[in-house]
Amino acid sequence: MRRLSRAIHLPAASAKLLARGTTPTTTTTLFARGNSSGLPPQTAERYAIARGKFQVLSQQHLDHFRRLLPSSGSVLTAEEDGLDGYNVDWLKTVRGQSRVVLKPSTTEEVSAILRYCSEHSLAVCPQGGNTGLVGGSVPVFDEIVLSMSRMDKIISVDEISGTLVCEAGCILERISDHLAEKGLRMPLDLGAKGSCQLGGNISTNAGGLRLLRYGSLHGSILGAEFVMADGTVIDVLSEMRKDNTGYDLKQLIVGSEGTLGVVTKLSFACPPKPASEAVALLACDSFEDVLCLFREARQGLAEILSAFEFYDAASAGVAREHLGLSSPLLRDDGTESPFYVLVETGGSNARHDEEKVHAFLERMLSTGRVQNGTMATEPSKIKALWATRERITEALLHDGYVYKYDVSLPLRDLYGAVEATRERLAGHPGVTRVVGFGHVGDGNLHLNITSPQYEEAIADLLEPWLWEQVAAARGSISAEHGVGFKKRDVLGYSKSPEALSLMRQLKDTMDPKGILNPYKTVP
Ligand code: FAD
Ligand code: MLT
Ligand code: ZN
Repeated sequence: MRRLSRAIHLPAASAKLLARGTTPTTTTTLFARGNSSGLPPQTAERYAIARGKFQVLSQQHLDHFRRLLPSSGSVLTAEEDGLDGYNVDWLKTVRGQSRVVLKPSTTEEVSAILRYCSEHSLAVCPQGGNTGLVGGSVPVFDEIVLSMSRMDKIISVDEISGTLVCEAGCILERISDHLAEKGLRMPLDLGAKGSCQLGGNISTNAGGLRLLRYGSLHGSILGAEFVMADGTVIDVLSEMRKDNTGYDLKQLIVGSEGTLGVVTKLSFACPPKPASEAVALLACDSFEDVLCLFREARQGLAEILSAFEFYDAASAGVAREHLGLSSPLLRDDGTESPFYVLVETGGSNARHDEEKVHAFLERMLSTGRVQNGTMATEPSKIKALWATRERITEALLHDGYVYKYDVSLPLRDLYGAVEATRERLAGHPGVTRVVGFGHVGDGNLHLNITSPQYEEAIADLLEPWLWEQVAAARGSISAEHGVGFKKRDVLGYSKSPEALSLMRQLKDTMDPKGILNPYKTVP
């Protein structure tokens, strides 16, 4: 890893570069399944919400599930196994009361479970890696948890067309590593890759760190197999890039958060893995400089630009304080820079790519838009440069309660939302910090406020005020995390009544009894 100075000296081209590497699986290290310490109050206690008219799980239902899923460990119960890890979300902010977790291994088993649940009016909460950040992946009341973790087979990888077909329970990191061995890349990357599943990624339409380069999952998905609430299997698992045979049904399940069907198999178009990769971490004095850098990166780096992320000094501070991750770019007096930018490039010709990066950085340093910088081309050093950005989410949890917002805003307003929030909360004794980071390239701000424990007074200062600001800017109240339980009732800030009504009609058509992930996503 090199520090950049006004006279930059860049590394010699390194043709043999690996994928960025991995971050620790924060889900398992921080919140192992079954860990019962520090549980949040039950969702039904904290939120005013009434249970739907679903049946309550009986011994007869349980016996039936045991017959359907005879292999050991496929039916877990609260009494015998302790289900906190399935009832509590990653952020530890919501907690359901499910008494049973079902772990099917095949599409046929998923279909049989849903057919039975539909016939007996039993509510179901589909669950992937349980890394979702909007309370969508855990039950609100006593919904049956349908865990997809056993459906984790890689079905095929076509190295010529770059097509991946796999089951929905495959963990993203495993797939990324598998594809890398074949010279391919998963077009999605995010900090939760060690735990999240492709089915969960598709169901939330996760954005992540590479959306700028590869676009949203709506473009990368080629096909899907999913099971509707009544057990009907919809097989649209095409591997073709072009298929205009009527409505594009697979797109219905992208971002549907387990409310329209349970995803069992998926196919994706995977780009080639770049032969050369480089990452620069740069320090800027103002957000205006960050935006100027972005404009220049789009022009100067063009087709090799693969990520453009930022985090502020407060984000760097929380990662240093709780995870010991110190910035390689502290100022001479030991303080953080106001802003940090991570620029990642990936191309096919290391020499050509590095020349481009070099020219870009020289230009930026000469204009004074960048105060300091460091650059890496070796995988382990690239990974180290990403560490703070990827682990801010984990670090924030150590403060206690996280009020988490994930909004789309016009780029010129992006950081203004953080400053306005700081002003609004100024002087409130319960607030530990307000941090801003996110995907500049996607106009996606992650605004996080922390306090030692949940305080309604802080929540009341933030909402609906923040939603109103976002709506006034014609932004989105959920850029990439989805709606889940937490944002269901504020969708009106970003969608018209007519659009919401069409969502409701689709839900009623595909799940007339409303058994799939009730209380979530559809207002
Ligand atoms: P879960 O959390 O288990 O479920 C999410 C939703 O999908 C739920 O509504 C659930 O019911 C549904 N679901 C899951 N599997 C299925 C299935 N097979 N069929 C039908 N429905 C299903 N998100 C981003 O967009 N970008 C990021 O950069 C990003 N970074 C993150 C970093 C960290 C550290 C963490 C903890 C989370 C991050 N997330 C991010 C949020 C999260 O959306 C993603 O982690 C991921 O897409 C969720 O996948 P999962 O398998 O954990 O799904
Ligand atoms: C990220 O970009 O790091 C994630 O979306 C997680 C978060 O917003 O906390
Ligand atoms: Zn994000």
